[in-house]
Amino acid sequence: MDNYAVEMTGITKIFGDGFKANDNINLRVKRGDIHALVGENGAGKSTLMNILYGMYRPDSGSIKIDSAEKTFHSPSEAISGGIGMVHQHFMLVETLSVLENIILGDEPAGFAGMIDYNTCRKRVKELTGNFGIDIDLDAKVGSLPVGTQQKIEILKILYRYAEILILDEPTAVLTPAEAEGLFKTLKELRSEGKTIILISHKMSEVLSVSDRITVLRRGKVTGDLNTAETSKSELGRLIVGEDMGDLSVKEQNPFKDTILEIKNVSIKNDKKLLAVKDTTIKIKSGEILGVAGVEGNGQTELIEALSGIREIVSGSIMLKGKELRKRDAIAHIPADRHKHGMVKEYPLYMNILLGRESESVFSTLYYLKQKEIINYTDKLIKEFDIRPADHGQLMGGLSGGNQQKTVAARELTKDTDLIIASHPTRGLDIKAAKFVHEALLSERKKGKAIVLVSTDLSELLLLSDRIAVMYNGTITGMFNAVQTDENEIGMYMTGMMTMGSKK
Ligand SMILES: Nc1ncnc2c1ncn2[C@@H]1O[C@H](COP(=O)(O)OP(=O)(O)O)[C@@H](O)[C@H]1O
Ligand SMILES: [Mg+2]
Repeated sequence: MDNYAVEMTGITKIFGDGFKANDNINLRVKRGDIHALVGENGAGKSTLMNILYGMYRPDSGSIKIDSAEKTFHSPSEAISGGIGMVHQHFMLVETLSVLENIILGDEPAGFAGMIDYNTCRKRVKELTGNFGIDIDLDAKVGSLPVGTQQKIEILKILYRYAEILILDEPTAVLTPAEAEGLFKTLKELRSEGKTIILISHKMSEVLSVSDRITVLRRGKVTGDLNTAETSKSELGRLIVGEDMGDLSVKEQNPFKDTILEIKNVSIKNDKKLLAVKDTTIKIKSGEILGVAGVEGNGQTELIEALSGIREIVSGSIMLKGKELRKRDAIAHIPADRHKHGMVKEYPLYMNILLGRESESVFSTLYYLKQKEIINYTDKLIKEFDIRPADHGQLMGGLSGGNQQKTVAARELTKDTDLIIASHPTRGLDIKAAKFVHEALLSERKKGKAIVLVSTDLSELLLLSDRIAVMYNGTITGMFNAVQTDENEIGMYMTGMMTMGSKK
């Protein structure tokens, strides 16, 4: 007899007035498996797992854990039942140490009600030893890379004796090397008998790490597969329900005007150290300049200077021949949409308006033109295929992909000559990413100049005309995108090569 850790049967979840985020879903996960749950943004993956984790109550359906019927009314009940979840957005306290974060909310009281840190430390050390996780327990969480922060989230749930671990899009924010590290940890956990449910929309990682795969599309199960017996193309079909086709090939643009000129610019970071050193870049109309680099080599500071939130210490930035001023209109798709791109508590139509309130289409001197704003939002919802198609929906209730589409819709439709896109498809599924790519290419065609910062080299190679590599605050390589490849760029990114060293 098969030994199932999780059996979800006939799960339906309805939001608002009748929208079925989960529609009669069956999911069976074998004990000791890495079970992938895949599907495009909005397919219902997080909802299903939030039901398992006790955050949402299903409208119908039942759940068995180790063959016993269970109803969890809250995450803390799920945790007592041996289930732990790492959410899409980490919930760590940046100012506390690693150890403090792990035990937070679960502190054992020692002598006179004091937290017995030594006992906790011993137990965490055991866990890190068992699962081959290497981490400094006394470091402040805010100073650690995201890959490490995620390991802390995993330790946090192991510390609470989780037998079933749910990870919601864990690699969306990781570098490829960090993702490899995570998979090693997951396999380690599997070999210790843990059951893992891995939400992902990256087909190659799902195929390489999972034992079984369940595919969701628009709230329904469209596939339940043995990983060894499926393929990228089968998965792709089950996920989107159609063939994806390829992006149209870029043609050279006829435009000649220089839009942006960065001349001998130096910029300091928050620690008052030079993050960008004497850098010069020119970008023409209709051109996408890709900026490659390992994070932390000056790209962020450069983008912040371009978007007017960071001073430059020397040099000049010219927009169409004039010194760039803070209030110049620039479109910016920010890397961290949660911090800079949106207000979760506002409805969609208010988010479409962010930063554009003063455009005459949307307001007179005295009041906002509500009707125009709503009509405009509805138009963008249609054009950018934002779901649900409801301008009154709160931004926080949208899936990550749809939030990003909303930010992209707002920024790309601004009347500007320059677009700055930082990691515009980070965390998006294939279909949404392709949509953003096409939107960028179509703005390029219209003659806009685009600065695209990304750690995804295939994305840079696909979209850019030229690719600049930043290393240690300077441009160490500049390539025609059709004449280079990932290997060459990679060598410049790691500082193994610079323009000077290439003969
Ligand atoms: N709290 C909520 N209120 C209303 N709609 C929601 C809520 N949570 C999710 N949804 C909707 O349910 C659908 C599925 O969302 P989700 O489960 O987050 O998808 P996924 O994780 O597969 O990207 C989306 O259309 C989303 O907008
Ligand atoms: Mg999700």
